Amino acid sequence: MTDTEHAHGAGTNMMHPSILRVIEDKKAINQKLSNIRHKIGIYSAKGGVGKTTVAVNTAFTLSSMGYKVGLIDADIDCPNTLMFLGIQGTFSDEYPLKPAEKDGVKVVSTAMFVDDAKKPIIWRGPIVAKMIREFLDSTDWGALDYLIIDLPPGTSDAPLSIIQLLSLDGFILVTTPRHISAINTIRSGMMAKRLNVALLGVVETMSDGSGNGGEEVAKELGCELIGRIMADKRFGELSDAGKIPVLNDEGIRLQFESMIKKTGLVDG
Ligand SMILES: Nc1ncnc2c1ncn2[C@@H]1O[C@H](COP(=O)(O)OP(=O)(O)O)[C@@H](O)[C@H]1O
Ligand SMILES: [Mg+2]
Repeated sequence: MTDTEHAHGAGTNMMHPSILRVIEDKKAINQKLSNIRHKIGIYSAKGGVGKTTVAVNTAFTLSSMGYKVGLIDADIDCPNTLMFLGIQGTFSDEYPLKPAEKDGVKVVSTAMFVDDAKKPIIWRGPIVAKMIREFLDSTDWGALDYLIIDLPPGTSDAPLSIIQLLSLDGFILVTTPRHISAINTIRSGMMAKRLNVALLGVVETMSDGSGNGGEEVAKELGCELIGRIMADKRFGELSDAGKIPVLNDEGIRLQFESMIKKTGLVDG
């Protein structure tokens, strides 16, 4: 039985019309994105743990391995992805939306709507959700091997919209070595589990041997620690300069390649 047939139900399984609409929306969006082989969210409920760093470097590692890659900046009100890429994209009036592009990687971000990165974007939850829906529904991605979604922190509106609208392969969870970071990342993992999204693994970033956040998250959630990305000031220096660490440092690239291979979503 399809989701919709199940929702309409025969007598006992009647669902509320709003649930039916979510199911229909998800079906329509995933139909539109049927040219995309894998969809991976990069997620933690905690800010500043390295989600955008992992999203951007994962995207460019996959691209350097020969795959076609797109990147959605789902941090709608504090979009950073374009700055990490060192590009200033703008949407034209064209419909569907044309992603900006850097070295073959396509990207959409609300930063493409504002002329000054310092200007705050002050939107209520429903508008944030609408924007995410728009990015999923109205972007001309062409065929992609991987779509990487850079999530905002929290366990409410934006992550919920992505989970509801998109059939993800799963999340890569991000934590630092610190206990408080691990606890917050466990929250996001538990949310994913409750909503039946697979956990592809945990990445510990800024690793310096000072804690075991990655292992703590993996153990609690019963998933694999797929990599430790070493603390290295070059991440900050390169990203601040709009340069991609994995394209500028072979040691960093190898750490990302090893991590990506452990997700089980790439050949070899
Ligand atoms: N492995 C690392 N070593 C050193 N600094 C890092 C590392 N990973 C990320 N950073 C830095 O930490 C800061 C926060 O990272 P960011 O990716 O923006 O986190 P988030 O998206 O979770 O808020 C950035 O300045 C980034 O350059
Ligand atoms: Mg971020």
